[in-house]
Amino acid sequence: MSVSDRTGLAVWLKSQAADVALVDCLQHIAASCKKIAHLVARAPLTGTTGISQQTNIQGETQKQLDIISNDVMVEQLRLSPHIAAMVSEEVPDLIQNPDAAQSARFVVCFDPLDGSSNIETNAAIGTIFSVLELDAPEAEVRTKSVLQSASNQIAAGYALYGPSTLLVLTTGKSVAIFALDPDEGVFLLLEDHVNIPEQTSEFAINMAYQRFWEPAVSNYIVQCVAGETGPRKKAFNMRWTGSMVADVHRLFVRGGIFLYPSLSKPGGAKGKLRFLYEANPMAFLVEVAGGAATTGTGSIRLIEPDRLHQRAPVILGSKEEVELLENLHHTL
Ligand code: AHG
Ligand code: MN
Ligand code: MN
Repeated sequence: MSVSDRTGLAVWLKSQAADVALVDCLQHIAASCKKIAHLVARAPLTGTTGISQQTNIQGETQKQLDIISNDVMVEQLRLSPHIAAMVSEEVPDLIQNPDAAQSARFVVCFDPLDGSSNIETNAAIGTIFSVLELDAPEAEVRTKSVLQSASNQIAAGYALYGPSTLLVLTTGKSVAIFALDPDEGVFLLLEDHVNIPEQTSEFAINMAYQRFWEPAVSNYIVQCVAGETGPRKKAFNMRWTGSMVADVHRLFVRGGIFLYPSLSKPGGAKGKLRFLYEANPMAFLVEVAGGAATTGTGSIRLIEPDRLHQRAPVILGSKEEVELLENLHHTL
């Protein structure tokens, strides 16, 4: 298929029968990702790959690109009158949109730059986003309303800044993958109705934390690395990029299972990943693509958060593997 024959993002969005307000919201998110892709690509030249003098609510030192990407997202999303407020990994409190229409009912939660530890090494990083719909418009959106609308996630996606800039998106009907055409500056459809194979021989976990794993996770990984003569009777491969976006994207390409589980180290009980802008959007995408997403003991998407930046254990990907891990959590 020639580049000019490919479907553009706007056409795809309208084909999803997404309402015009959601189309507008998602187009502003896509425009943010396009801007961030450009800034990420130029970061080594502009000297913005390093750390800033600031820390986020988790006490993590922010990279300059974390802050730059956050500012791009906030500035761009303010332009959509349908976005009432935002939640950003890089901002402690809820961000109101002063330019929102009275009828605005969307809250966009985002991780403006995921995988920041990879910036200096030029490895793949990304942006993750989740669109929540409030039960009713509010002139001043309350944090409580955002937390209550977490299960009312109507769209989710991520941009992956790698050799190509990809945009992976769902409004609940299918998962589609777009590539940014750097010549034309537009996202063009590569694949729709992406499906995650139910079986896999590849897992993604940070092995350095093995001593902190729950028994179920330890048991599962031991089974996997036992290979052909072990209980799984097949060899497994392992990948860990350190960018959730890159590690999760692999699931949509060839299946697999991604684990950032609960850790027994101080502060690790809920793992590392944040629910509103990492776990919840990725769980939505994976489930729409036929995969599964669990904390180990329950569905990620049934979590009712009580804080904007709360963490959640994340085990998601090929359905059969996730179910095996849930069974191990319930029996060990
Ligand atoms: P962020 O850069 O937004 O803080 O996210 C980093 C996350 C996630 O992308 C990745 O899966 C995980 O951190 C890697 O954690 P470890 O460095 O502990 O492996
Ligand atoms: Mn992240
Ligand atoms: Mn981040």
